[in-house]
Amino acid sequence: MCKYLKLNQIVLILYLVKEISSSVEFTNVKCTSWDKKFDEFEYCHLKSVNRSFKYLSLKVNLYKVPITKIKVNFSLLKRYNGYKPFLYNITVDACKFLKHPKSNPIFGFFHGLFKNHSNMNHSCPFDHDIIVDKLPTSFWNQQITGALNFPHGDYLFHSDWYAYGINRATVDFFYTLS
Ligand SMILES: *[C@@H]1O[C@H](CO)[C@@H](O)[C@H](O)[C@H]1NC(C)=O
Ligand SMILES: *[C@@H]1O[C@H](CO)[C@@H](O)[C@H](O)[C@H]1NC(C)=O
Ligand SMILES: *[C@@H]1O[C@H](CO)[C@@H](O)[C@H](O)[C@H]1NC(C)=O
Ligand SMILES: *[C@@H]1O[C@H](CO)[C@@H](O)[C@H](O)[C@H]1NC(C)=O
Ligand SMILES: *[C@@H]1O[C@H](CO)[C@@H](O)[C@H](O)[C@H]1NC(C)=O
Repeated sequence: MCKYLKLNQIVLILYLVKEISSSVEFTNVKCTSWDKKFDEFEYCHLKSVNRSFKYLSLKVNLYKVPITKIKVNFSLLKRYNGYKPFLYNITVDACKFLKHPKSNPIFGFFHGLFKNHSNMNHSCPFDHDIIVDKLPTSFWNQQITGALNFPHGDYLFHSDWYAYGINRATVDFFYTLS
């Protein structure tokens, strides 16, 4: 209960600082499969169409479907001398969340950033490859600039994806707030 309130408070603060703005630039995305018999990234990239239009696409092939248990640990790190833990470090039961989207506001916020551009938009099980298709980073810019008014600098949004308790993949997003 205590933990739940804390998450709610963080989200509330994120929304309250919406007015103050800065600019966000996504600099890189890196996807790693830790078990190539289980999953493999077919592609994972940021693409610049022009100065104002940049998008993210990724596709992960899943070889042991259906998948019924997924957990995600995610954390936000900031670069000082190397990346250091900055704010979140939480684990979410993705299957539970997808079934009850209001159960975790923080994961809800991040899921909201990509769900309209992804086929990870339904509850478990997953019996198909996962795609994020041309997610415009400008959309993230608006959401994150508004929501995360953090000190300027380089950030890493790190996510470890577990299926059946084993880390199968890592997806890292690098961005700069200036
Ligand atoms: C950038 O590319 C997008 C998509 O092709 C286009 O809609 C937009 O007008 C372009 N912007 C500029 C500044 O060229
Ligand atoms: C998150 O917390 C766990 C244990 O609580 C720790 O082992 C891990 O290094 C932390 N990760 C980050 C990025 O802070
Ligand atoms: C996602 O799609 C829904 C339904 O079409 C829409 O109401 C919502 O505003 C969209 N969200 C984003 C973040 O684009
Ligand atoms: C989920 O995404 C797929 C592919 O983008 C789309 O065909 C489907 O209608 C979406 N389902 C929901 C519930 O939004
Ligand atoms: C990440 O999730 C796995 C699987 O649920 C768990 O074993 C591990 O302790 C978690 N790590 C952190 C840092 O929360």
